[in-house]
Order: sequence, then structure tokens, then C-alpha cells
Amino acid sequence: MGDRVIIFDTTLRDGEQSPGASLNIEEKLDIARQLARLRVDVIEAGFPITSPGDFAAVRRIAEEIKGPVIAGLARVVAADIDRAWEAVQVAERPRLHVFMSTSDIHLEHQFHRTREEALDICREMVRRAKSYTPDIEFSPMDATRTDPAYLYRVVEAAIDAGATTVNIPDTVGYTTPEEFSALIRGLFENVPNVRRAIISVHCHNDLGMATANSLAAVRCGARQVECTINGIGERAGNAAMEEVVMALQTRFDVYGVATTLDTTQLFKTSRMVSNYTGMSVQPNKAIVGANAFAHESGIHQDGVLKHRTTYEIMDARSVGLADSKLVLGKLSGRHAFRERLAELGYELSADELQQAFAKFKELADRKRDIGDRDLEAIVASEVRRPVEIYHLDQVHFTSGTSSIPTATVKLIDPDGQELIDAAHGDGPIDAIYKAINRLIDVPNVLSEFSVQAVTAGIDAVGEVTVKVRDDGHVFSGRGASTDIVMAAAEAYMNALNKLLAARRATAAAALTPANG
Ligand code: KIV
Ligand code: ZN
Repeated sequence: MGDRVIIFDTTLRDGEQSPGASLNIEEKLDIARQLARLRVDVIEAGFPITSPGDFAAVRRIAEEIKGPVIAGLARVVAADIDRAWEAVQVAERPRLHVFMSTSDIHLEHQFHRTREEALDICREMVRRAKSYTPDIEFSPMDATRTDPAYLYRVVEAAIDAGATTVNIPDTVGYTTPEEFSALIRGLFENVPNVRRAIISVHCHNDLGMATANSLAAVRCGARQVECTINGIGERAGNAAMEEVVMALQTRFDVYGVATTLDTTQLFKTSRMVSNYTGMSVQPNKAIVGANAFAHESGIHQDGVLKHRTTYEIMDARSVGLADSKLVLGKLSGRHAFRERLAELGYELSADELQQAFAKFKELADRKRDIGDRDLEAIVASEVRRPVEIYHLDQVHFTSGTSSIPTATVKLIDPDGQELIDAAHGDGPIDAIYKAINRLIDVPNVLSEFSVQAVTAGIDAVGEVTVKVRDDGHVFSGRGASTDIVMAAAEAYMNALNKLLAARRATAAAALTPANG
């Protein structure tokens, strides 16, 4: 058993499975670069068979990101494994991650396979993956609801077939720390070849125990933890990386194992993921929440002023908070602007920099001090926005106590034609959304609308996040502006453009031959 825990980040794969969290390729690359700066050991870049977009993103990450292992996910299906290999083979250190359900519930009701059939498929597909690369991870999905005796056989077979990491997923977030500890110990005691592989864990948070379960497994010998930034992921999410890593570091006395992460990058990474996915971080979230290091009560403030450790178990600087209070303004030049963006983890091309700098100058005319959060908002809403199918050109609205809220909207369609319409509504935002809907006739349900002030003060930039639902799919959109109504208009257009782009991609895929 080593004294180091491998941190496997799956923000770009399981994290992206959060409803509405879909990312474009440039956003994925920014996040992957930031994860490399954070020094995670493995980046699971995606699930290449699922779409041409996912394939392209995994391939670009594999080409460009040096340092971490780059993993691609595949079911125990030959075409999946071949496609995943096509995407990751260019990486400096590629890994194939193959998974298969092993619980009776899944085998009977979803896959209609017997245990013996599943075992044979596992052997055969792990061997196929191994024929491509030595670094193979195998996951028996729904492991925590799998008969342990059968799980031991599957794990043994996977290791015999060439798996170098075996990951034990708590797919439905059902286990408890005590039960999971017993399962991990059971593997070490009952699988004869277990020491030839690293035992990994992948915990979901349905009962709020993902971090606790992951840490319990580490105590029992697991040496890889799969996690996501801000704990995003399928349903209630995955174990939050920042929590796992800071718990290992802060309570080294309990766990006795370290990671090699540069934890001072955690806060920046959390901000970037939240900005790009549109999934805000709750203020009381451990480690990266806005209040995680804030002391409100007088007694606590008094104690911290006298000696920090009276009420603080971690130094805010160790997660990169309070890193810099640098403020830019009207007179700041392009150089300072670029430097600060780079420090925040954003590497922009010359054109993107030009675009962001123009927006920065525009903002600086309206707002005196521009901080990190404003810069992040500029990048997320101006530079990394999805392909614009319809461009929001002009918005005019009237509202007030004695007038009917009315909006006129001008859009530019994909052929460059101007489209103008007007509508009235319950308020100016409702009127704008109705006018947009009259122009782009795309059925959707607005399922979430939230407004946040990015920074404090009367001239604060307001950030609006919306989610729209269409046929079971959720698309998020963001807009940021000192004018909250305009931010709301941009956010809605942003989400609708994503929805339209997804529809086009689906239509294009339907016209492509099956194996194309
Ligand atoms: O939750 C799960 O079981 C997974 C596997 C693909 C590892 O995400
Ligand atoms: Zn998962």
C-alpha cells in the first residue's frame, strides 16, 4: 500500500452529466488546463462514443494537456473501446476506463445478462482494451449493491485480464462509511491478485455521504479517489475533490496519506467550473463556498483576531482564497489585464483577448473597480459563449408602476437577416423572453432563473443563470452585465442557442451512417 492517494478528476465526464452543465470544447480545455495546474493525477476527459462533440473534446485534451493521465470512458462494448482509444491514444499518458454493471438489479432488469455472461464479457473487453494500452481501469458499476462474493470474482477476472486500476463505484450513492469500509477490506482479503492493481473508489452523493465514504475507503487501502470539482455530477453529484483533498491534508494525523495537488489552485478551479457550468456553489459549501472562511459571530471574530487557529482549521490561503486583492480599472492596460486572466487560469488567444479587453474597457466606463469575479464573468459570458445561431442585437423595454411592461427585441438570424418583434409581460424580463420566443419559435420550458451579484456595491455586475428544458434535455445560459435585465436577456439567448445547436447536432448525427 502506497502512502499517496491518486486524485482522478471526472468533472469533465461525470460532472458534465449534471443537468444543464454541458460545456463547449474551449471551456473543457480551459478546465483541463486548470486541472493540470492543480496537479490532479488523472483527468477523465469524457465518454468518446456518446457524441462527435465528446470525441473531439477528449481528443483535443489528449493532444494538448501534458502531465496528468488522460482517460476516456467506454462500456464493455468493442466499438466504445475502439472509439475511446482513438480519442486518447495521442495523450502523453493515455488510459482506457472500461465499465460494466455487476449488481443483479442491473444485470436482470437493464442488461438481461446472467452473472456468468457478464463475467465473460468483462474478461474479453478488458483484454481488448489492454491490447491498446497498458494503463487500464475497470469499474464494476453499482458495486455497492453487488453480491460481494460475485464482485470478488469480477475484480479478480478484470485484474487477470489486465486491469491496473479497479474502481469500486457507489453508483447510486447508497452505501455508508462502515459498509463501504467492510467492502473495501473484503476485496483486500478475498481477491487473490488484488495487490497487482490500485483500488479506486467513485462515490455518489445521494445520501450526502460521498466524501465520507471515499475517505473511509482510503482508510481501508483504496489509493485512488474519483471526484469532481464542487461535487458536481449525475443527480446529487460525486465526492467533491476540494473536500476529499483538504480532509486528507488537514487530517493527515488520521489518514496518513497525501496527495500531490497544489491546493492553492482549488478556489480558482471551483470558480471556473461554476462559471462555465452555470452551477453556482452554495455559500455554505465546505472549502470553496463564499462563507467557508467567514466568521460572523463576535466571539469567533474575537478569537480569530487573537489567534487564527482558535476557530480556523485551515488557512484560507491554502485553497487559494485571499490570493490577490488586485483590482483593475479604467486605466489598466492590456498587459495587466492579460496577466491577471492568466493568473486566474484563462489562456486566451490574441482574438479572444482582444474581445475580452474591449468588454473590459466597456465595463470600466460604468464601474470603477474591476475584480477577479468581474473578469471571470467577462470570459464566461463574452469569450466562451456557445456558437451563436441567433445574435441578440438590440433590446428596448419599458416598465414601471403605471405602464405595461413591454419589450422590443431585434435578433440577427443565421442568414444575417434582422428579425424584430415586441411583446408585453408580467415584467420587463418576461416581456423580453416572450418577444424572443415569438421570433425563435422553439418550444422550451424555463425551469430555473437565478440572479446573483458578482461583486459588491451599487455598480456591481449582476449574473443571471437560466435553465431551459426541451424534450428532457436541460440547457443552461449565463449573462453578466451591470444592467440585470440585459444580463437576463443574454442568459436566455445563450441557453436557446445551446438548445438549437444540440438540435442541429442531433439532426446531423441522424444523417450520418451508423459507424461514421
Ligand atoms: O457512477 C458510476 O458508476 C460511474 C461509472 C461509469 C464509473 O460513473
Ligand atoms: Zn458516476
